[in-house]
Amino acid sequence: MIHYQTEKENGRLWFRETKFLPDYELKTESVFAQCNGYMGVRAAQPFSLVEEHRGMFLSGAFHKAYEDEVTELVNCPDLTWFALEIDGVKVYPDREGLVSFERSLDIYSGELIIHYIFQIAGKGQIEVENRRFASMTCKNLFVQTLKARVLDGDIKKIIVKTGINGQMTNSGVSHFHKSIARVYEKEVMELRSELEENVVTEAVVCKTSEGTLMEKEFSLKRRSVYGTYLLCPNEGCVVLEKIAFVDQAENGIGTKERKEALIEAAEKGYEGLFKEHRRKMEQFWDMARIRVEGMSGEEEAAVCFAQYHIAGMTPWHTNESSIAAKGLTGEGYKGHVFWDTEIFLFPMLLYTYPEEAKRLLEFRYKGLTGARKKARDYGFEGAMFPWEAGNTGEEETPLYAALNIHTGKANKVWSGIKEYHVTADVAYAVDQYYEASGDWKFMENCGYEIVFEAARFWVSCAKWDDKRKAYGIFDVIGPDEYTEHVDNNAYTNYMAVNCVRMAYGYAEKLKREKKDVFCALNQKLQIEKDLARWEEFLKKMYLPVPGDDGIIPQDDTFLSKPCIENIMKYKTSQIKQAVLLDYSREEIVNMQVLKQADVVMLLNLFPRLFEEEIVKKNVLFYESRTIHDSSLSYCAHAQACAAIGELELSWNFFQKCLVVDIDDNPHDSTDGIHAASLGGIWNCMIFGFAGVRYEDGILYLAPHLPKHWKCMEFCMVLEGVRVRFAIGGHKVVLTCEEEPDYPIRVRMNQKEYVLKGTLEIVKK
Ligand code: BGC
Repeated sequence: MIHYQTEKENGRLWFRETKFLPDYELKTESVFAQCNGYMGVRAAQPFSLVEEHRGMFLSGAFHKAYEDEVTELVNCPDLTWFALEIDGVKVYPDREGLVSFERSLDIYSGELIIHYIFQIAGKGQIEVENRRFASMTCKNLFVQTLKARVLDGDIKKIIVKTGINGQMTNSGVSHFHKSIARVYEKEVMELRSELEENVVTEAVVCKTSEGTLMEKEFSLKRRSVYGTYLLCPNEGCVVLEKIAFVDQAENGIGTKERKEALIEAAEKGYEGLFKEHRRKMEQFWDMARIRVEGMSGEEEAAVCFAQYHIAGMTPWHTNESSIAAKGLTGEGYKGHVFWDTEIFLFPMLLYTYPEEAKRLLEFRYKGLTGARKKARDYGFEGAMFPWEAGNTGEEETPLYAALNIHTGKANKVWSGIKEYHVTADVAYAVDQYYEASGDWKFMENCGYEIVFEAARFWVSCAKWDDKRKAYGIFDVIGPDEYTEHVDNNAYTNYMAVNCVRMAYGYAEKLKREKKDVFCALNQKLQIEKDLARWEEFLKKMYLPVPGDDGIIPQDDTFLSKPCIENIMKYKTSQIKQAVLLDYSREEIVNMQVLKQADVVMLLNLFPRLFEEEIVKKNVLFYESRTIHDSSLSYCAHAQACAAIGELELSWNFFQKCLVVDIDDNPHDSTDGIHAASLGGIWNCMIFGFAGVRYEDGILYLAPHLPKHWKCMEFCMVLEGVRVRFAIGGHKVVLTCEEEPDYPIRVRMNQKEYVLKGTLEIVKK
């Protein structure tokens, strides 16, 4: 099922590609990328290939190339390229002479090793190895080595050329308006590349750790700088280490500090730096690892793969940026941030690294100015969060999609205008954070303001429906993007009500219990005058309820539309969105066919909103109409099916979401990994299989482990206390790893328990 070979070996977990497969190059570049939350470097091969897509993306480094475009995450100057010449013969993997090839990623450390054997005509055989990692200890460091070892023949001269290539573009669009290349002290290459409001500086030092350096020379090309190193093998071997320090000027690191950091790093060398980095990664795994007894090696590897990438996309260093739909692994979706972050990725961080989860919310807080502007621009009040965000709160969704190849016309993208629900999703995440952390300081500094402004938006966009004698929310797109311009999308309405209810509840509570905080917020936001409107909205907002058949209407017209014929054709198609080849968008909108989970998402977020029977009916009903054309869909259904006890179905979906990025379809993930789906794996395992829910200060447990899983072990941080869960077939054991005297209320089997230190509950 996984396209790559997986292997555990001496504390390492390898994903391996053992053949040179040009068709998979772009996919593997994304999937094997080195990311540390600050930088993401695609795992392109060191040597030029006909088809390759090198890329380095820095968290928050956005730029808009032209006035009528949106900002995008800039593809920064490349550090990964090397040229190798063996006694006058250049090596290229896609030409004659490649004897063997292996590219391996160690999921535990993030180290990439690319290994080749080349036959050099008339000279002999040489083994070449390129290793690299993006340091978790010092976010600015990207470290590589290139090793060449003579296997047979008499090879005397090895020339390696490498440097910093500032001629990179985002699919042809060049972002840097100025690049200055320099060489300091005949040693350090530096490229300073300027964007309008940002500068990316890369400084590189290369040193030999094996072999003899005979000569080196530097050359400047337009927007690039290169060093050429003539090396002579000692005992047949040369190793060139390339240490790069990358930063954005706004971080305030001047040339001197950068140079010192670089020199210090170069002294430690690859091995020294890697050791430090590995230690940091071990700490991550100690917290994040989910151990399952009974899971196959491949499945375990896929779960770790997801967590490796989440570690790599999380901005550990800042609240100035968030997590993009493709992390830092590619140009897909222009590096933008969607609801994927708050709904799919946030939970894992919330319960393992709550500080990081908080930073993601602070990012949204900083975006309030842009979100307020968006609300005003569309005639609403409060804050309307962008459907796609860059590093501000401004809307960045392109207004038009790519041109239709036959008509030459572009389709309008409605999501940025009509997919309102992201505003409630952000507020939902704020509440989840407060619930799990009890962090009132965050609420006072940021959280309340986000929720109040979001509530204002919802109240201002609801309209009175005289027929229903209720408020409604009209002309929206819910999570299912195959149904545009619908009224009263269930997910949207429930999320909106949840948001306003939170706002009203918080405001009333503050008025009662923390008058000074309420007064300060009121002075800033004048919310007192909104309270009556919020109350009225909560009383009179229309919420779709299950009909006689138990089905919750996805929107006002969904259930009256015809079902699509032959849905299985599209459910089983290898091609994503194949349905759009047979039907126009207008036709799709008028049928009961879903791209992705919609009502099912609602049921995942509010598992106790309806009785079990209703939840079950709706999950099955909507699944039968869903094509799963978005990568967000399998994980959502895996979780929902686990919660309703449909374990076989759940397992089928779980297996599909495990391989979204690593299956054998070479066309998937070429422009970046699917971040939300990777987050959804955690959600399915913890909320679905382990059946964990933390609500109103109570830890609810309703495990539904897949049949062949004997035991599942993981950690969660609840109100600052790290709790270890061991969920087996017959019992659940909870252990407070810190603060054993802190009591946590637990509910399972309809009984309540108190966890203090350790608690063992026998399953019914
Ligand atoms: C999905 C959205 C998602 C976006 C980014 C789209 O295909 O329909 O729900 O937010 O991709 O992952």
